[in-house]
Amino acid sequence: MKKLLIVGNWKSNKTILEAKKWLQEWNVQFPISNIQWRNATVVLCVPYTLLYPLKQEIDRLQIPIQLGAQDVSPFPDGAYTGEVSARQVREFAEWVIIGHSERRQHFGEADAMLAQKVDQAKKEGLKIIYCVQDEHIVVPQGIDVIAYEPVWAIGTGKSDTPENAQHVIAAMNAGIRLYGGSVTPENIRSYVEQPAIDGVLVGGASLDPEKFISLITNACNPR
Ligand code: PGA
Repeated sequence: MKKLLIVGNWKSNKTILEAKKWLQEWNVQFPISNIQWRNATVVLCVPYTLLYPLKQEIDRLQIPIQLGAQDVSPFPDGAYTGEVSARQVREFAEWVIIGHSERRQHFGEADAMLAQKVDQAKKEGLKIIYCVQDEHIVVPQGIDVIAYEPVWAIGTGKSDTPENAQHVIAAMNAGIRLYGGSVTPENIRSYVEQPAIDGVLVGGASLDPEKFISLITNACNPR
């Protein structure tokens, strides 16, 4: 069976207390979930404020989850008020999402700035999950993971059909290719069964540990 990459994106959710509770619940549920763990790499992309406390807890409890940020500064360290540089992210996280459609839509991020973010992330050795809304988006060189996420499918409960996702993703050029947009424990298998799809990017269904574990379980245990 192929190795899957399952990425949770918490977006702008959870305080430190809530995040720690999530991990504790994960730690109780996970041993009884019977996940064939070797089949999946699980990454959790959290707000900057949660990176440090979650890293501490994950190390302490030895939880097999890798951490990621949801964005990164297009600039290096320096006089860029409000930004978090790739070097700062790298202290706590191995992964970073760049170009999520919510960044493009609400913060006006466009291709030129996204290319700068990619450069910064690459310089610091972060693994990049680059989001595209369709097959026409320009993707910078050297991306590790591409996530196809149609805007109309994000947070709406209206996911793309697995067949169309397969069709769009098969035309994309990256080592690892994900689908994202209203992925649930119920529909996950139909996506990971597609030959070109290596995993998923999950928003809403990653906020509840039980739901996220059941999503991973369904992805890893074939019918
Ligand atoms: P959703 O979000 O799973 O809640 O649709 C996906 C995403 O925005 O990455």
